Amino acid sequence: MSRRKLIAGNWKMNKTSAEGATLIKELKDALPCKGNPECCTVEVLVCPPFTTLPAVIAEARGTCIHVGAQNVHWAANGAFTGELSAAMLKDVDVTHAIIGHSERRQYFGETDATVNQRTKAALAGGLVAIVCVGETLAEREAGQTFVVCEKQVKDGLASLSAADMANVVIAYEPVWAIGTGKVATDAQAQEVHAFIRTTLGALFGGAVAAQTRILYGGSMNAGNAKGLLAMPDIDGGLIGGASLKAPDFATIVSSAL
Ligand code: PGA
Repeated sequence: MSRRKLIAGNWKMNKTSAEGATLIKELKDALPCKGNPECCTVEVLVCPPFTTLPAVIAEARGTCIHVGAQNVHWAANGAFTGELSAAMLKDVDVTHAIIGHSERRQYFGETDATVNQRTKAALAGGLVAIVCVGETLAEREAGQTFVVCEKQVKDGLASLSAADMANVVIAYEPVWAIGTGKVATDAQAQEVHAFIRTTLGALFGGAVAAQTRILYGGSMNAGNAKGLLAMPDIDGGLIGGASLKAPDFATIVSSAL
C-alpha cells in the first residue's frame, strides 16, 4: 500500500501577506522540483494565517504548493465572531484545513467534540481535514499516550464514514515536542503512528487504515526529518518552526522523496 507523503507547513501566527509571498518565492527556488507540479512525488502544503492566504495562494498558483488554513468553523455562516466557514475558505481556493491543533485545544477551548464538528464541516465543504492528536508530557509520563490518542481519534472522527476518510489526514503531534526542540525519537513516533493506524482499522476497516496518511509533528526539522520519514507508518510531517525557512522546509520535502 503506497501512501503519497505529505509535507505540511503550519506557519501559525507568523508572516504578513508580503512576507508570505516572499517565502513562497524562496520555497519555489529551494524545492527540488522548483515548484513544477508535474514532477512532485511528495504533496507540499503550507498553512499561513487567514489574512495571508490570498497573497500566498496567488504566489503558489500553478505550482505544486497547496495552501491550507489553520482552522475552520462548523457552521455555514452566522454569529460566530472571529471564525471562518469552509465555504469562505473554498472561496479563496484553500484546499486543506488543520483542525484541533494542540495550541487550539490549549488556548482556545477546542475539544474533541468541536474537532469533530469542524472536521465534518470541512469535509462537507470539500476541504481535506488534517486532524491533530497527541498527548501532553504529563499524559506520556503517566503511561496514557495510547488512551489519549485513541480517544482523540475516535471522538474527533465520530460518525464519519469510510468514504469520508479519503479526505482526512491525521497529524500525531506529541504536545511535549511542539516548539520545544524535543523531538520524539523515530521509534517513539513510529510506535504511536502504528497504534493510530490500528485504531483507524478498528473504526473504519483495514483498507481505510492502510490508505490514511498519518503525519508526525513536533520539532521536525531538516536534520531529523529523514529518520522520522523512513518509519513505515509516518507518511509526512506537520512542521511549525522549520516551515518558516524555505531552505529547511525544502530539505524536509527532499527527505520525503
Ligand atoms: P514545531 O510545530 O515544528 O514548531 O514544533 C509543529 C506544529 O505545532 O504543528
